[in-house]
Amino acid sequence: MADNTRTATLTFDGKTIEMPIHSPSVGPDVIDIRKLYAQGDVFTYDPGFTSTAACSSDITFIDGVKGELLHRGYPIDQLAEKSHYLEVCYLLLYGELPTATELEKFEGHVTNHTMVHEQMMNFFRGFRRDAHPMAIMTGVVGAMSAFYHDSTDIADPKQREIATIRLIAKLPTIAAMAYKYSIGQPFVYPRNDLDYASNFLRMCFAHPAEDYQVDPILSRAMDRILTLHADHEQNASTSTVRLAGSSGANPFACIAAGIACLWGPAHGGANQACLEMLNEIGTVDRIPEFIARAKDKEDPFRLMGFGHRVYKNFDPRAKVLKQSADEVLELLGVEDNEILQVAMELEKQALADPYFAEKKLFPNVDFYSGIILEAMGFPTSMFTPIFALSRTVGWISQWQEMIGDPELKIGRPRQLYKGATLRDYTDVENR
Ligand code: SDX
Repeated sequence: MADNTRTATLTFDGKTIEMPIHSPSVGPDVIDIRKLYAQGDVFTYDPGFTSTAACSSDITFIDGVKGELLHRGYPIDQLAEKSHYLEVCYLLLYGELPTATELEKFEGHVTNHTMVHEQMMNFFRGFRRDAHPMAIMTGVVGAMSAFYHDSTDIADPKQREIATIRLIAKLPTIAAMAYKYSIGQPFVYPRNDLDYASNFLRMCFAHPAEDYQVDPILSRAMDRILTLHADHEQNASTSTVRLAGSSGANPFACIAAGIACLWGPAHGGANQACLEMLNEIGTVDRIPEFIARAKDKEDPFRLMGFGHRVYKNFDPRAKVLKQSADEVLELLGVEDNEILQVAMELEKQALADPYFAEKKLFPNVDFYSGIILEAMGFPTSMFTPIFALSRTVGWISQWQEMIGDPELKIGRPRQLYKGATLRDYTDVENR
C-alpha cells in the first residue's frame, strides 16, 4: 500500500497514536489502524462493519449517496445496456474489457466446462425432492472439491484459473439441476451452441417431451439479471468468501460458504422474501397496513426489497431492472399482473412516505428481480439460486484478488468481551 504523509492522531489515557491515512482512487479515505492494538492496547469496535474497510480492492466501487456502481470503473447502467454477462465476468476477473479474440477464447473455455461430473447426479439423488435449491447448491458446490481435485491447490495459479472457469461454467448447470430435481423432471444437459443465459433457461425449462426454443427477449432479460447481480463490493457473502479464503480453504469450499451466506433474507434471500411479501399483501388496498407494520418499531416486519447498507439513494441496479420488468411483463402479456400492480403501488406509497424518505429506504436490486423471475416461470425458491450463480463471478474475482494480495493475512477479528472474568470450577454438589 503506497503510504502518503497524512496521519490521524488518536489521543486517550495519556497516549498519542499516529495512524497513516490512505487515499483511494475514489471514495472515502481510510485510517490504517493495523498498529493500534500494539501501540495503544485497544481494539476498535464496529459490529456489522459499518465504518470498516476490511481489504483493499480494485474490482467494484459503490457510491451510496450518488447511487453509483462501477465495475473496474465502468458504470453498471452502461454495462447492462452495452455488454453481456460473460464479458462482465472477464472484466471483473482480469480488470479490462476483452478484445474480440480474448472474449471468444474466454467464452469458449466457459462453454467447454458447463457439464458436471456424471457421478454428481448421484449426489443430487441423496436430497429429498422438497429440499430448497439453495440447500442443494450449498452442498453440491462444496462437494465440487471432491470431484475436481486437480483444481484445489490455491498456490498454483493454473489450478486457481481452472477452478474459476469451472465455477462460472458449472453453477448454471448445478442451479438448473437443483430446480429440475425439485420438480421431479429429468436433468437437461447444457448445449455448446447456446449462449450462457439461453443455456441456463433451456436447462431449466426444456424437457424430453417437446422441443424448447429460448425466447431472445427472455434470454436478454436473464443475461441482464445475471450482469446486474455479478459483484457488489464487500457485501456479506463476498466478505464470507474472503474470510473463508484467508484460511487457505479451496475455492469450491469458499464459494459454498458464500452461497450459504447469500441465502439469508436480509441479503440475497430478499428476492424470494420480497415476492412472498407481495403475495402476502395480495391486493393494493392492503398496502397501507404493511407500510404501517414496516414503520412500527414493535413489529419486526420489514419491507423486503427496500433499504440497503450502502445505497442511500436508488439502487442503480433496481433502475435497470425496472425497465427489464416492463419489457418482460409486456412480452408475456402480464403487464396487468396483480403482483406487479401491488409492487408498483407499494413502491409509490413507500417513496411518498416520510419514514422511508428520512431513512433513505429505496427499492433495491431484489425488489424487481423477483418480479421478472416469477414472470419467466421460476418458483420463488429459484430466485436466490439465480442470484448465487450470477454472484459466483464476483465472489471468485474477489477471492482471486485476495489470494494474490501480498498483504494477505488470515482474517481474525477481535471482540469486546462482556462475559464472566476468571473464576474456579465448582463441583456439582457445591452449586
Ligand atoms: C442485498 O450489501 C450488499 O451489497 C447487498 C446486495 C448485494 O448485491 O450483495 O446489494 C444485495 O442484500 C440487498 C438488500 C436485500 N435485503 C432486503 O431487501 C431486506 C430488507 N432490508 C433490510 O433488512 C435492510 O435495509 C438491510 C439489511 C438491507 C440494510 O440494513 P442496515 O444497513 O443494517 O440498516 P438498518 O437495519 O440499521 O436499518 C436502518 C433503519 C432502521 O430503523 P432505526 O433502527 O434506525 O429506527 O432503517 C430501518 C431499520 O428499522 N429499515 C427498514 C428497512 N430497512 C431498514 N424499515 C423497514 N423496511 C426496511 N426494508
